Amino acid sequence: MILITWEELKEQCLSCKKCKLSETRTNVVFGDGNPESEVLFIGEGPGAQEDASGLPFVGRAGKLLDDMLAMIGLDRSQIFIANIVKCRPPNNRDPLAEEQEICIEWLRAQTALMRPKIIVCLGRIAAQVIIRPDFKITQEHGKWFVKANTHMMATLHPAALLRDPRRRPGSFEDFESLRLKITEICERTELK
Ligand code: URA
Ligand code: SF4
Repeated sequence: MILITWEELKEQCLSCKKCKLSETRTNVVFGDGNPESEVLFIGEGPGAQEDASGLPFVGRAGKLLDDMLAMIGLDRSQIFIANIVKCRPPNNRDPLAEEQEICIEWLRAQTALMRPKIIVCLGRIAAQVIIRPDFKITQEHGKWFVKANTHMMATLHPAALLRDPRRRPGSFEDFESLRLKITEICERTELK
């Protein structure tokens, strides 16, 4: 049973000190968008610009994500974007397994309150936590999985697309597949 509201959850999360990342962060990045939406995007963790602003995906990778969303008729007001860890790992290292395990409780609570119809994992780290520990992002991006009535897929992390633009066509296909899935199963998400 869920006993707290979204606002209460956010308030608690913003002052979280459950792991060591709290010592080096500037802001907790709780997430952005509409918590009542049917589609949840999950990234890895905040980078420098996210840490400074308190918002997810606001750097170069975030701009690319916004473009990909626009391509299928979506903007941030129609989705919610969160991360596996909510505080920036120093020097942008991967979040440690222990940090992920502690922080995932916040994402679990967010997911329980949102009850999204669709989850899109951005990159390997999110896919391995949310879909399967041995998830192979290069081979399995764009494939759909169903868990507890939620449809999930992983796509390449936008930062990976910036590093290697040859991977963009594959990721366009993933977003096209997302567009079709939204048309198929979402009731309130109006693509523009
Ligand atoms: N990369 C992520 O995984 N998350 C962000 O919020 C920003 C960059
Ligand atoms: Fe809390 Fe997560 Fe930040 Fe660690 S990373 S302090 S668990 S919000």
